[in-house]
Amino acid sequence: MRPSLSATLPFLLLAACSAPGKGAVPAGTPSGPPAWELENPVRPLPTPPLGVTAELSDLGARVTPAKVRLGRWLFYDPRLSSDGKVSCASCHKPSAGFSETEPVSTGVDGKKGNRKAPPVLNAAFPIYPVWFWDGRASSLEEQAKGPMQNPLEMGMTHAGIEATLRSISGYGRYFAEAFGDERIDVDRVAEAIVAYEATRLSGNSAYDRWDAGGAGALDEKQQLGRRLFFGKAACNECHLGANFTDSRFHNLGVGWRKPPPGADPSRGFADPGRAKVTGNPADTGAFKTPTLRDVSRRAPYMHDGSVATLRDVVLLYDRGGVANPWLSAEVKPLHLTADQVDALVAFLGALDGEGFQDVPPGTFPR
Ligand code: HEC
Ligand code: HEC
Repeated sequence: MRPSLSATLPFLLLAACSAPGKGAVPAGTPSGPPAWELENPVRPLPTPPLGVTAELSDLGARVTPAKVRLGRWLFYDPRLSSDGKVSCASCHKPSAGFSETEPVSTGVDGKKGNRKAPPVLNAAFPIYPVWFWDGRASSLEEQAKGPMQNPLEMGMTHAGIEATLRSISGYGRYFAEAFGDERIDVDRVAEAIVAYEATRLSGNSAYDRWDAGGAGALDEKQQLGRRLFFGKAACNECHLGANFTDSRFHNLGVGWRKPPPGADPSRGFADPGRAKVTGNPADTGAFKTPTLRDVSRRAPYMHDGSVATLRDVVLLYDRGGVANPWLSAEVKPLHLTADQVDALVAFLGALDGEGFQDVPPGTFPR
């Protein structure tokens, strides 16, 4: 099945690679390590912050400090794009919890997709079964690699990435450091990037501290929001567990526009969501429940970025979603008071954590 444009874009950038970044080796000491290495040392693997359970933070034996350093360079390196301007981090921005603050993503040559980049946080989660808003990838490796291998994108895709990286002479030694020899191939590229992603852990939020017994960690409004979240508003029917997601698909009516009378009702969704993957009409307009960690950092919301603020999200739930033929049964009017709406918004703000923050490497192998 052909992935949506937005999903394809990230990998188009990997498909047709631009002139490699050749240049003079910059200063370091004449015989010592180059500047990019001195500025980006191998770092120990992170200690999981409070609230990030063993499940979420199990990096596995394949995540090593050397792979993470290599993967970090690859994640931020715009030379892997056809216009030399786009990297994974262009859409998965560290400042936005590895999501973005635009309604939909913009890829190479300014082309816009139709979905927003979801956050990549606590993503090592080995029981996280599916990836993408519609769940069409079933492992992080597949997520990183699969679209590159799409038959419609193939041919130069693998070759393009590999040729670009091989022509940057500085990269070889870090593939050797991470994998034992200098061979560069897309499997290794994906594995290194996944290793970096797996270290982006978010925890120690006010909510985590409160949950661990820190009585003062949530103020009164946030505590009321917490009770509503797990009680009257039943947000935890779908946003559950340490990452606040069931990794399942639900229809809230986001993106629904009533089609003209007589038209196929499924045309009311410009993006069919999960139905496109399963072929099951019952999944029309259903999207994967996103994590709510660091949610305040990534407005606007939902798969299409159509809901501007957290308050607007809560009001959407309060109205019982947007009526359409496939609305999930769990989504019903909540009859919240104005104070309760405020409290839920305040509680969502208490899910901002730490541990994932990063800045671009600044210097890259050349
Ligand atoms: C042009 C913007 C853009 C770029 C560049 C980009 N992504 Fe994405 N990413 C997206 C969008 C949009 C989605 C959601 C696509 C969908 O659901 O169909 C996504 C989804 C993902 C997901 C799944 C998250 C989840 O919760 O399901 C991961 C992981 C991911 N991208 C990693 C990467 C990596 C690694 C790179 C670099 C190789 C990258 N992305 C480059 C926009 C981008
Ligand atoms: C029936 C399952 C379900 C319930 C109940 C539910 N959610 Fe969601 N939530 C989702 C799904 C699915 C999405 C993504 C929908 C989309 O993009 O079309 C979502 C998206 C969100 C987002 C946007 C996140 C982002 O990254 O864009 C927020 C915030 C949110 N929900 C908060 C809540 C709150 C607060 C409640 C309780 C009032 C709640 N949810 C109840 C399933 C649910």
